Amino acid sequence: MTTVPLYDAKPYDHLFFVKEGDAAGVKYEFHAFRLDASTAPSAVGAEAVCVFVNDAIDRPCLEALERGGVRLVALRCAGFNQVDLRAAAEIGIRIVRVPAYSPHAVAEHTVALLLSMNRKIHRAYNRVREHNFSLSGLVGFDLHGRVAGIVGTGKIGRLTASILRGFGMKVLVYDLYPDEEWARETGCLYVPLEELFATADVVSLHTPLTPETHYLVDGDALAMMKDGAYLVNTSRGGLVDTTALIGALKSHKLGGVALDVYEIEEGVFFEDLSHDVLQDDDLARLVSFPNVLITSHQGFLTEEALSEIARVTTANLVRFGEGGDFLPGTELKAP
Ligand code: NAI
Repeated sequence: MTTVPLYDAKPYDHLFFVKEGDAAGVKYEFHAFRLDASTAPSAVGAEAVCVFVNDAIDRPCLEALERGGVRLVALRCAGFNQVDLRAAAEIGIRIVRVPAYSPHAVAEHTVALLLSMNRKIHRAYNRVREHNFSLSGLVGFDLHGRVAGIVGTGKIGRLTASILRGFGMKVLVYDLYPDEEWARETGCLYVPLEELFATADVVSLHTPLTPETHYLVDGDALAMMKDGAYLVNTSRGGLVDTTALIGALKSHKLGGVALDVYEIEEGVFFEDLSHDVLQDDDLARLVSFPNVLITSHQGFLTEEALSEIARVTTANLVRFGEGGDFLPGTELKAP
């Protein structure tokens, strides 16, 4: 296996990928910039590249990679909406991902956001640091007895549902493929999506981003939601229509919004722009609401998840180099 360029690399990537790579004989070359058609020439001579959620693996990028000799793109994430799978199949580049590294990491972050937003921990922290010990404006509500609505009952949605059941919430769920047995065992209830939106005090999104789920939460869905409801999105930014969301916040329709993902993360999320001018007016507006809490796509950021991502990715690179099969369930095929 030739050296593997790893794009959008952060210090924590170095830490975990060097450790796994050294143990398995895979040498990574870390690039801080993202991979797209314009940066693809940096991969010339490599057989495989390693990318993350905001690299643009579209047709022009795949064509450029292929010209340079790349035959495998290894995603060090679960979501793959940034990849044109059909183009990859036509061009002859194989794609692998890490389908599950730590669903616990994302479910726990989802609940951390919900608790922080509800009990205004982010505001209280800043106040106390300035010796402002007033409680005005910090009133939340008991989650116990309230209704949560979980959209998408895959790995992360199920764990989130279980944690919220532990708080004594009633949990309504929705999925294209309901698992009634799981719902019975956990005490959750599958309902139609409209009923979930209309009934839940807290709506949490856990579906992948697909053409069907794009703008799953649009103006109509927001209008259906209860006045004062909370919306939590740790899945993908494209699930929510940002313009409609800002409207629902300005009109006080929603009580709070917690986001770990955003429609246009590229060039902003994961970057330190504290000395720059934020060009995205929608994001700047969202940040300005007192009842909006945003983290920069950090749901996956635990030691367990990072080492599992590095382990699975490196194992697949080794297998590819040896001409063997990828780890089960990690290769993506065009639909
Ligand atoms: P999963 O594949 O286990 O579950 C996804 C669920 O969504 C499945 O049950 C599927 O049937 C359902 N679904 C798909 N299309 C649907 C539709 N149109 N309507 C209703 N349900 C639908 O995936 P997992 O591991 O639970 O991850 C969920 C998402 O979380 C990922 O796709 C990814 O976008 C996001 N994620 C976010 C991370 C973060 O750091 N914030 C890290 C990892 C994943």
